[in-house]
Amino acid sequence: MNGMDVAHLPARVRIVEVGPRDGLQNEPQPVPTEVKVELVQRLQAAGLREIEVTSYVSPKWVPQMADNHAVMAAVQRQPGVRYAVLVPNLKGLQAALADRPDEIVVFGAASEAFSQRNINCSIAESIERFAPVVEAARAAGVAVRGAISCALGCPYEGDVPAARVAEVAQRFKAIGVQRVDVADTIGVGTPLKVQRVIAAVAQHYDLDHVSGHFHDTYGQALANTLAALQMGVWNFQSSVAGLGGCPYARGATGNVATEDLVYLLHGLGIDTGVDLRALAETGAWISARLGRPNGARAGRALLARCAAETAAASER
Ligand code: HMG
Ligand code: MG
Repeated sequence: MNGMDVAHLPARVRIVEVGPRDGLQNEPQPVPTEVKVELVQRLQAAGLREIEVTSYVSPKWVPQMADNHAVMAAVQRQPGVRYAVLVPNLKGLQAALADRPDEIVVFGAASEAFSQRNINCSIAESIERFAPVVEAARAAGVAVRGAISCALGCPYEGDVPAARVAEVAQRFKAIGVQRVDVADTIGVGTPLKVQRVIAAVAQHYDLDHVSGHFHDTYGQALANTLAALQMGVWNFQSSVAGLGGCPYARGATGNVATEDLVYLLHGLGIDTGVDLRALAETGAWISARLGRPNGARAGRALLARCAAETAAASER
């Protein structure tokens, strides 16, 4: 029989929920700290076991993340949940360590223009800057992940060769970054390109330590996820209700919605540990709090079906 060989799909996927960070960082209106805290808590109650909570970046660059300390202090942590935060430099690391994250994320790019716009330095300078950050974090017992932005294309430079992405992965490996995110910052990737880029990154990182971070701007994120799954990737990042976008990638929409990702994975018989109904309710709740449409198609469909069933039951 032709078609997908289910035996080659992973039995389990670990999702890193990035909604509180990637999802909210681009919100134009200040989101109250207590809403951010409640979002994290609802996500962990829905079964997410890795959550990117906030970032320790310049508040002049990203004002929405300025309440990082307050958010980290207020979240009631659950055992077994990994709380990650973004850190661009030593100043950010020092601030972050005070709040005891389980993991920090350094973020570099495979495109020079994006590196300059996002973190105000070249790719080579960023690696030099990250090296002592990684060393100090690991010395403090904190895990380190590295995001490679523009791995599938750049808003300023266009196409990005897979070899350039592999080069950043190699440099991350050399400074002690433990796992990497192949990030499609502007959601332009398509499945075969995703597979080529992941194969290039896999020259330097075991696939167990590679995750897919797909924004859904062109509607390709689930197809890209499936392409990565078929290669053996089993770590993915997503944002509840499809929130978000990067402030330095104009026009880019949010990450793939976690609800849509979970629906796909459960449909493939892959375990995520996530309660889709509780997640969908969280997506509806945060969308209402932000006054935006809910970007999770599976979330909307599931809640509409539940509402219809409840209405039908009350008529009986
Ligand atoms: P800079 O201006 O070159 O830094 O910015 P600087 O060292 O010259 O310092 C300038 C000012 O910033 C100083 O304050 C520093 O104290 C302060 P002043 O003296 O002017 O009052 N500063 C800081 N404040 C708080 N925390 C810090 C910090 N560092 C310096 N850590 C810098 C360089 C990296 C700081 C800046 O460019 C920045 O904050 N960029 C962050 C951009 C960002 O957060 N982007 C979004 C996250 S990445 C993303 O979304 C992509 C991802 O999802 C994957 C994907 O989809 O591609 C991860
Ligand atoms: Mg992102």
